Amino acid sequence: MSDRFREVALDSALRAGAFLRSRFGSRPPVRYKGSPTNLVTEMDRGAEAIILEAIRSRFPDHRILAEESGALPGAGHEAGQGAGPYRWIVDPLDGTTNYAHGFPIYGVSIALEFDSTVTLGVVYDPSREECFVAERGRGATLNGAPVRVSATPVLAESLLGTSYPNDMRDAPRDNLAEHAALMRRCRSVRSIGSAVLGLAAVAAGRLDGYWEQRLGAWDVAAGGLLIREAGGTVTAVAGGPLDLGAPSIAATNGAIHPELIGVLEEVASRADR
Ligand code: IPD
Ligand code: CA
Ligand code: CA
Repeated sequence: MSDRFREVALDSALRAGAFLRSRFGSRPPVRYKGSPTNLVTEMDRGAEAIILEAIRSRFPDHRILAEESGALPGAGHEAGQGAGPYRWIVDPLDGTTNYAHGFPIYGVSIALEFDSTVTLGVVYDPSREECFVAERGRGATLNGAPVRVSATPVLAESLLGTSYPNDMRDAPRDNLAEHAALMRRCRSVRSIGSAVLGLAAVAAGRLDGYWEQRLGAWDVAAGGLLIREAGGTVTAVAGGPLDLGAPSIAATNGAIHPELIGVLEEVASRADR
């Protein structure tokens, strides 16, 4: 992994985070993306512009998938003449609903794929000034110090995190049944409102597991690598491989993974009946 990639990811995450923090509490006007629970603000776009400018000026031929701008081809690939091996995956502001309400749980997430494998992940929490970095095969750090998942051995002693899909008012699978079932089987469940900070909390051993349905690639690309590099296990909620094309995620310290997937399967089979 080139130091230049890491430098651009880190620097732009910190700058986007500083921008978000500088306006935090200003209650930006919200607009709706498709559903009344899917918000976007000018701050999402402003933070994304900072990150995209940094990537494009240094690596113009790289592809980018950014939540607010969508899929952007690298220079030279505009006319569909193939695609380069590098793709950046960006969530400039994860936790927009929290942010828009002045609730200080939100983050910036930047990942880099090489040949469809995530090789670098940066998650920045501007409120706590915490920066998580993972490089494939080289571990995960928090503000430069190595982090590891928890050693909690069983679900019954676990603290879990989750959040709710943006389309939950309309979709049949709204995560409430899963939340209820798991609440009775672990110490407690926190609904965080930021998938990327929930995943970073698993990597740092603050949560023992996190699950969520119907996310975007930008919600899980960096956080998934953080957890793997911190010694944890990451799959889809049904237990198969994480699919960045249509992600759901179950991410744990590894020890409780079979139990978590077991409960999620139980709920899914009841819902399918
Ligand atoms: C959302 C947050 C939230 C999760 C939603 C995501 P956004 O991202 O991660 O926790 O429940 O599914 O879409 O829209 O704030 O970037
Ligand atoms: Ca997000
Ligand atoms: Ca976002």
